[in-house]
Amino acid sequence: MNRFAHVTGWGMAAPDRVLTNDDLAKMVDTNDEWILSRTGISERRIAEPGESTATLAVDAALRALESTDINAKDIDLIIVATSTPEYIFPSTACIVQDKIGASRAGAFDISAACTGFIYAVNMAAQAIRTGSIENALVIGAETLSRFTNWEDRDTCVLFGDGAGAFVLQSSDQPGGVLTCVMRSDGSGESLLSLPAGGSKLPASHETVDKKQHTIQMNGREVFRFATRVMASATREAVSLASWELDDVTWVIPHQANMRIIEAAARGLRMPIEKFVINLSRYGNTSTASIPIATCEALESGRIQDGDHLVLVGFGAGLTWGALTLEWVLPERKISRAARRRRAILVFLARVRSFVRRLRRKIEGLIWGTSSNDPI
Ligand code: UT7
Repeated sequence: MNRFAHVTGWGMAAPDRVLTNDDLAKMVDTNDEWILSRTGISERRIAEPGESTATLAVDAALRALESTDINAKDIDLIIVATSTPEYIFPSTACIVQDKIGASRAGAFDISAACTGFIYAVNMAAQAIRTGSIENALVIGAETLSRFTNWEDRDTCVLFGDGAGAFVLQSSDQPGGVLTCVMRSDGSGESLLSLPAGGSKLPASHETVDKKQHTIQMNGREVFRFATRVMASATREAVSLASWELDDVTWVIPHQANMRIIEAAARGLRMPIEKFVINLSRYGNTSTASIPIATCEALESGRIQDGDHLVLVGFGAGLTWGALTLEWVLPERKISRAARRRRAILVFLARVRSFVRRLRRKIEGLIWGTSSNDPI
């Protein structure tokens, strides 16, 4: 029996405290016009003293679980993607495991910067599809504000705090997570990093004085890299799913900069309206940005049953990746009429996709161009 990994629950958490562009203009030499026009960000959320990556992750996880028909004890695996963990060790995932009472779950963190959520969803989906687990909780959570140099206008205007979580469950119903491309290029390690606090540069008075415990970034180079990889990763994941770009209903990109998202849309020749964007209200929440944007799009009813989604991101490492997802709501969440409509829509989409591949194959035979697509 084929097993599929479906997203059956989702939840997000963001601190209440809002920091606007005007607030930042009182702290560093910047202004609302510059930040908005260069990044698309108007405000971001900042963790209060009692909040941390784990508390945000736990809140998002509990909300995600509430939206499913399973409870914490049914979770087999918890993966937290984060670059701002609670500690170097133990993992933030273990803290979440304890706080939500997931007594049967294995737990670990993934460090792939802003691409982390894509990597983590792919890892969980692979484990489900191979049959080694049934239910997984995947969380992207960050408190970047704790690692921001609030005197550096190049970086402090960009980042925000938050968390988003998916519950993934095994099902024999086709759909769910389909394909994923994961890429990296460590030669870009210095373009975006948090240099101190690890084994190379342990904390010392010097590292503190030099502000080496805060985010260091070459913004222009990261921008160039991002505009290059967003479109290519999307194309690769879409092609692996045997979709055409036209089949994609929504692209949910990492929310780093509006100009990067626009460049990706241009590169893919896709209308910007197909991109889920909430960057103006949260800033760049790194690995939390994709699940937060997905949650908001689900809550507002934009993502519908049968939709074809692409999650695509990039970040420090350098890392980048894209994942395709056929959004199929769990049976219990939809009415009988909607189920019938879904079955028809899914059937029609598959027929369309088959006809397209058949046409490409026949054209290949007639014109002598090769097509390796299985029909
Ligand atoms: O999750 C991945 C994380 N990182 C990213 O996604 C970052 C990708 N990079 C970017 O988003 C953009 O490069 C930035 C938003 C960081 C910067 O935008 P830019 O258009 O590349 O600006 P720039 O670095 O080329 O700087 C242009 C000017 C400079 O002044 P001069 O040298 O032209 O006089 C900067 O000093 O803007 C100045 N500047 C600012 N001015 C007002 C830089 N930051 C600010 C600021 N307010 N906050």
